[in-house]
Amino acid sequence: MQLPEYPESYWRRTAELPVFPKLTQNLETEFAVVGGGITGLTTAYLLAKEGRRVALLTADRLLSGTTGYTTAKITAQHDLIYDELISNFGEDKARMYYEANAGALSFMRILVAGQGIACDFVDEDAVVYATGEQGLHKLEKEYEAYRKLGIEGERYDTLSLPFGAIAALSMKRQARFHPVPYAAFLASEIVRMGGEIFEETTVDKFHDGEPAKLTTKDGDTVTCDAVASCSHFPFFDNGFYFARLHAETSYVIAVKSPYDYPGGMYINADEPKRSVRAVTYNGEQLLLIGGESHKTGQSDCTIEHYEALKRFAEDAFGVDEIRYRWSTHDLVTLDKMPYIGLAREGTPNLLVATGYRKWGMTTSALAARLLADTLLERDNPYKELFGPSRFHASPDVGTLAKETADVAYHFVKGKLEWLRKDPEELGLDEGAAVRIHGRRCGAYRDHEGKLHKVDTTCTHMGCETEWNAGDRTWDCPCHGSRFTFSGEVLNGPAKKPLQRL
Ligand SMILES: Cc1cc2nc3c(=O)[nH]c(=O)nc-3n(C[C@H](O)[C@H](O)[C@H](O)COP(=O)(O)OP(=O)(O)OC[C@H]3O[C@@H](n4cnc5c(N)ncnc54)[C@H](O)[C@@H]3O)c2cc1C
Ligand code: FES
Repeated sequence: MQLPEYPESYWRRTAELPVFPKLTQNLETEFAVVGGGITGLTTAYLLAKEGRRVALLTADRLLSGTTGYTTAKITAQHDLIYDELISNFGEDKARMYYEANAGALSFMRILVAGQGIACDFVDEDAVVYATGEQGLHKLEKEYEAYRKLGIEGERYDTLSLPFGAIAALSMKRQARFHPVPYAAFLASEIVRMGGEIFEETTVDKFHDGEPAKLTTKDGDTVTCDAVASCSHFPFFDNGFYFARLHAETSYVIAVKSPYDYPGGMYINADEPKRSVRAVTYNGEQLLLIGGESHKTGQSDCTIEHYEALKRFAEDAFGVDEIRYRWSTHDLVTLDKMPYIGLAREGTPNLLVATGYRKWGMTTSALAARLLADTLLERDNPYKELFGPSRFHASPDVGTLAKETADVAYHFVKGKLEWLRKDPEELGLDEGAAVRIHGRRCGAYRDHEGKLHKVDTTCTHMGCETEWNAGDRTWDCPCHGSRFTFSGEVLNGPAKKPLQRL
């Protein structure tokens, strides 16, 4: 069974989003929300619902970031996390994390039912399963954590699915949905309630002051009382987020299978990670198989990750056709707790929400509530838990040291690398880092034979990007920026394209 040649997200094809204009003049508003993913849309929706003036600004189109490529499980079962949270934060905070996410799921369920949003919202159990001794050990500890925290979970010795599970732990009545109609509903409601949305509008800088000011890449300004950064990687420079976040890429394939899938959302406790859920497409069922995480820009052969998922799908379910494949990345904080709240000390009108560790469906809803409450000067029980200025010696110090060393290693490695390939040696649809006149460059020869050459130096902080053959992109190993083969920015923190040569 062949993989589709081009990566394409199932979500982006199956439902249309309304189109919004680009910002072409200076704007005044009360609140500016930067980022048109699920976090930005939900935040702007909550503010507009309160009758406040809000403008949402996003680079590219709505959902062009990670939300457009998610697997869209809505669950508080964030893989294995509760045992670790108890160790790092204590029982009370671990319980609050659960309650915040369970509350977010309820918010989404009530919104979808109350407003009749046709977004394939289906209640399903979320299940973590173990196939080996290590996974089993972790699962037992997680089960113990569920019991301590009062989380409703059920422990099984086996599963009726062909994963070879030797144990499983379920969280009852979680959900899955289609994020595009949900986002389309939020966008149209924002506008109906008087808010504004601008696409193709990249925000370049935040200028401190009262009022606050944003400038866009094209030089327009937005003057406002406060700004919420929902741009995945924070769009502003200060706050050391580049040292406190790392990007992890994962892969997804959508397959048609003869297997009679009984429902449920599964993820395994062992390595390599595998995530499975069903999705309905034009009246027929596909299976979404995800996994194969690695730090963005740090894989030798990205195609191999799709191949590994394909082998898993064939072994477990049998595969008639692979309809879609795609990869995307999410951000992880030093202590695995998202950063939501005041972005930095001493700047009361700049808020941020980031670092969801691939669990942004519930986290975005709780983040939006927390950002809106902070902007509206209301209490919220989770302000301290998610506050970005927190610092815990453990695990923060160890992780920070590791991340810093990793960035330094990749920065230097990229500069010293010995590159053999001459661009003339590249075949059709082949890309590589090459040396031209002694200088490291990136070259990709497209299907028509045209050579696209870029300077591989990342425009964020100067690391060398690496070729991603699976997606035909240039990916930065330091903080996860991604660029098309011709150098356009796909994902930040970089805002400027790679220089074309
Ligand atoms: C493979 C994979 C599977 C996943 N599956 C799940 C799942 O099943 N369940 C779950 O809960 N989570 C899942 N996640 C995580 C979830 O998809 C993300 O956490 C979530 O979508 C992040 O949403 P966001 O709105 O914060 O960011 P994004 O969706 O990335 O939105 C950010 C937006 O900001 C815009 N932007 C960036 N910079 C600027 C700028 N300077 N100016 C203006 N706009 C800017 C971008 O264009 C983008 O549209 C998964 C993640 C991955 C990688
Ligand atoms: S993303 Fe920071 S250097 Fe490339």
